[in-house]
Amino acid sequence: MKINGKHYRSIEVLENGWSVRIFDQRKLPWELAFVELTHRDQAARAIREMWTRGAPLLAATGVYGLCLALREDASDGNLKKSYDLLLATRPTAVNLRWALDEMIAAVKPLQGDERVKAAYRRAQEICDEDVEINRRIGLNGLPLLREHAKKNQGRPVNILTHCNAGWLATVDYGTVTSPIYMAHDEGIRVHVWVDETRPRNQGASLTAFELAQHGVPHTVIADNAGGHLMQRGEVDLCIVGTDRVVRNGDVCNKIGTYLKALAAYDNNVPFYVALPYPTIDYTLESGEKIPIEERSAEEVTHIEGQNQDGKIEKIKITQSPAANPAFDITPARYVAGYITERGLFKRIPESTGQPLKAASGMV
Ligand code: MRU
Repeated sequence: MKINGKHYRSIEVLENGWSVRIFDQRKLPWELAFVELTHRDQAARAIREMWTRGAPLLAATGVYGLCLALREDASDGNLKKSYDLLLATRPTAVNLRWALDEMIAAVKPLQGDERVKAAYRRAQEICDEDVEINRRIGLNGLPLLREHAKKNQGRPVNILTHCNAGWLATVDYGTVTSPIYMAHDEGIRVHVWVDETRPRNQGASLTAFELAQHGVPHTVIADNAGGHLMQRGEVDLCIVGTDRVVRNGDVCNKIGTYLKALAAYDNNVPFYVALPYPTIDYTLESGEKIPIEERSAEEVTHIEGQNQDGKIEKIKITQSPAANPAFDITPARYVAGYITERGLFKRIPESTGQPLKAASGMV
């Protein structure tokens, strides 16, 4: 990812070799603010309060949270306590559980300094693997966009997306955005309809920021506008990210995704889900068992933005009680395909426990 022409990863270990730099995403797009994480509890807070977010990046922040914990106390007791604490920060994205389990497997047999070193090593591998996975998701999604471009004969390919499944949600590239950036870079005309994604507006504030940085034409729309645009033939395909996909292919993603899938189905607009293998939860058969995070009602009753003096301000928009379920389930029957690092699949493939076994075409 590039911001103002400079390359970053969404999470990086600093030159001291142990503390970790993230963006404070709550401040985007108004301010590019960096935070240095130095303690486990600070990492846990950054996840809970969404300074950092997006399923793969939650996992990456969680594993460094565990590194920071072990650096202070590498005992078995602290390993267990820190695992539980970090796992409880956000319940829906299964990537966090996957990554913390990977860490346990890597450090459990070791003690003391060796344990700390192994933790940092595994955390770095998990981040590097995320980058490579997303690059491959891009390569596997690109043919879809090429096909649409061919069909459109010069008219831009209109893609609708929800929330943020871009590089700000991963270590680099993003899942949904990876094929979009690749298509744009090879000269395919793409245009992205960006759902604002109330209540936290990850679309309007994060996806739009990313696309602008990459020079990809895009338009922010109210969450309610997608169905109307589909009826008018102004959406060629939808691509969304996900926090957890289960064995039957049901997809859990940011609240509002389901309504987009319904509208897409009714209008024959193909609805794709981009995901890396750590997002697949093979322990669950279908979507209704996925824990849905309930966030604070204040995210609904209030809205934040820049005032006329350029200051960030939060204002109240209702006097009534509010509810805030943060995710919903899109049944597999509405999904045209799953864009993964292994290829484009019609159904969720059997578990191999391993990424990057490339398949080609729609499997
Ligand atoms: O609550 P958030 O902002 O963490 O939700 C993020 C999403 O819903 C993304 O679509 C999902 O995590 C996939 S990110 C590649």
